[in-house]
Amino acid sequence: MFVFVWVYLTVMGINLGDTFPNFEAETTVGKIKFHDWLGDSWGILFSHPADYTPVCTTELGRAAKMAPEFQKRKVKMIALSIDSVQDHHGWSQDINAYIGEPLVQMLPFPIIADEKRELAVQLGMLDPAERNKEGLPLTARAVFVIGPDKTLKLSILYPATTGRNFDEILRVIDSLQLTAYKKVATPVDWKVGAECMVLPNIPEEEANKLFPNGIRTEKLPSSKNYLRYTPQP
Ligand code: BEZ
Repeated sequence: MFVFVWVYLTVMGINLGDTFPNFEAETTVGKIKFHDWLGDSWGILFSHPADYTPVCTTELGRAAKMAPEFQKRKVKMIALSIDSVQDHHGWSQDINAYIGEPLVQMLPFPIIADEKRELAVQLGMLDPAERNKEGLPLTARAVFVIGPDKTLKLSILYPATTGRNFDEILRVIDSLQLTAYKKVATPVDWKVGAECMVLPNIPEEEANKLFPNGIRTEKLPSSKNYLRYTPQP
């Protein structure tokens, strides 16, 4: 039985480029069908281990404060844990108190109630190292960014004991959205407005046409001209 559960938990999951499942779920804004809810927008689905827990409270508080930044980027936000809609509503009041907002039950994004752990299993989000009082695994801190074409553009998985950095998540979304539409990549620690890299598979002549604002090539001991920078297009 243990081996069966272990195999089941480790083989489920989703890869970059896969179509994100069009799941139905109960949420704090009622029942949703994911693709209909997403519409033509980008989306971010982030899970957390449990309601009424300290790290999760700081994370969802931060996510709520940053909601206008996600909205600016046309990214719809949705959270998930294995607790009930009723718990999500009660806990949302605590989160609002924590960030100094009025004590309403709604956050600026819905929370999925994955009480049967169906989505958690399907998306490979369960953390066998973290268990509730009944010994059942909790959800890890997963981040999925989904494009308007409904495919998975990014996934990151943090353990329950490490809270996420939502500035980094926004930075990554800026890169995903830029590189989805322009033939560039973003280097280490890139931020909006900084130089980008010319993709290594673009020949020099084509690159010169694509990037009229110029290309700066750094000299390297190998004499290979692959470190090519261009202003952000
Ligand atoms: C927390 O959110 O603080 C937390 C939840 C589960 C395990 C560890 C920490």
